Amino acid sequence: MKVLIVGSGAREHALTWKALQSPLTDAVYCAPGSAATASIAINSGLQATDVEGIARFVAERDIGLTVIGPEAAVDAGLADRLGPSGRLVFGPTRAAGRIESSKAFAKSLMARAGVATPAYRVFEDPASAKDYVRGERRAFVVKADGLAKGKGTLVPRDADETLECIDTLMLRKTVGAAADRIVLEEKIEGREVSLMALVDGERVVALPPACDYKRALDDDKGPNTGGMGGYSPVSFFNEDDVTRAVDTVLRPVARVLQEEGTPYRGCLYAGLMVGSSGVQVLEFNARFGDPEAQVVLPRLADDLMPLLEAAARGELGGVKPSWSRQASVGVVLASRGYPGTYQTGYPISGLGTLEPGVFAFHAGTSAGAGGYLTAGGRVLTLVALGDSIAEARDRAYRNVDRISFHGVTCRRDLALRELGAPALP
Ligand SMILES: Nc1ncnc2c1ncn2[C@@H]1O[C@H](COP(=O)(O)OP(=O)(O)O)[C@@H](O)[C@H]1O
Ligand SMILES: [Mg+2]
Repeated sequence: MKVLIVGSGAREHALTWKALQSPLTDAVYCAPGSAATASIAINSGLQATDVEGIARFVAERDIGLTVIGPEAAVDAGLADRLGPSGRLVFGPTRAAGRIESSKAFAKSLMARAGVATPAYRVFEDPASAKDYVRGERRAFVVKADGLAKGKGTLVPRDADETLECIDTLMLRKTVGAAADRIVLEEKIEGREVSLMALVDGERVVALPPACDYKRALDDDKGPNTGGMGGYSPVSFFNEDDVTRAVDTVLRPVARVLQEEGTPYRGCLYAGLMVGSSGVQVLEFNARFGDPEAQVVLPRLADDLMPLLEAAARGELGGVKPSWSRQASVGVVLASRGYPGTYQTGYPISGLGTLEPGVFAFHAGTSAGAGGYLTAGGRVLTLVALGDSIAEARDRAYRNVDRISFHGVTCRRDLALRELGAPALP
């Protein structure tokens, strides 16, 4: 089978790497791919949202399975275009993808499915949103309804800051039309965990949970980023917790989407808050997480392709992937200044010196004469496996220190909170 991986980040590098290990794959193409995928697969030169270009490419090259990485390609309707021509697609239609592309849709869907999520209100004009906050005199999480590349959710401390956040999104339009509508959500406390699952329209197969780190600096300080790293498994979210979340969150949501005529096929990602009153859903993503995919995929002991193909065909019945007992920790190496302004074009050294069991998934690199150059804010996700989180963590940071480029930065506290946790089963 020929496979097309849509996207260009470290998540897609990990998907490409895993797809290439499959005896079922004859060739792996990427759209557009990256300098790193060019060295292991075939970059098509097509942008992820070039739906017509990709549809032509899929027909011409007889691609057996298209795997959608980024939400922009979901929202561009790539699955809608490929599906009717009989081509297998792993990734939801635009309508099913509204679970990510509209937070208001996701909230009302959860209400219809009986899924626990913080209380909320939707507003289309800033004046009534602010009136509501003034009346309530407390802080709300302010969320742009639409896709905003991680910049659409603001978490103020009090009512006054909440009013400012409404202005930021709706009047100063920092995320554009994505905030024409906003959700004001009750602020809740707890520990966050990301639960991804393969969904075939009806059946749900959970992947091991992971934690990601969104803030730029140690101790969750600094601005929000696309993600500075993560780890898997998660001591405070065990197999029973996963089973319960599948029963109370993922399966009910998939069932309602199916009943409403917009079945979900692909990876469904639930961002969960685990608090004293149980598990509540903060958001859904209609795709693999980045960096979650980079820490979860290396733990998959099985071939990835039959799993994605089964989900795309609606045949996940009886599918039960096996997972490595090893833990993984992924550290993002970023350019100094990210997520603000940063410079690129610096040579990266040390990639050839990584220990076995350590993977460098490229997020923003380009090919230079003597090797890779930095080409983005997030440059690499370095992922290490180990017999425990502690071992994976030590190995990850030992290898982080072998890589250098001008202005390299990373968080030093990833998975630190797991070190006091009990050993893996
Ligand atoms: N109701 C909430 N209470 C407390 N914190 C929240 C709440 N909703 C979101 N957050 C915080 O904001 C982050 C981003 O919110 P999320 O809904 O995931 O939006 P997005 O990923 O689209 O920016 C979450 O990871 C969490 O840390
Ligand atoms: Mg999120």
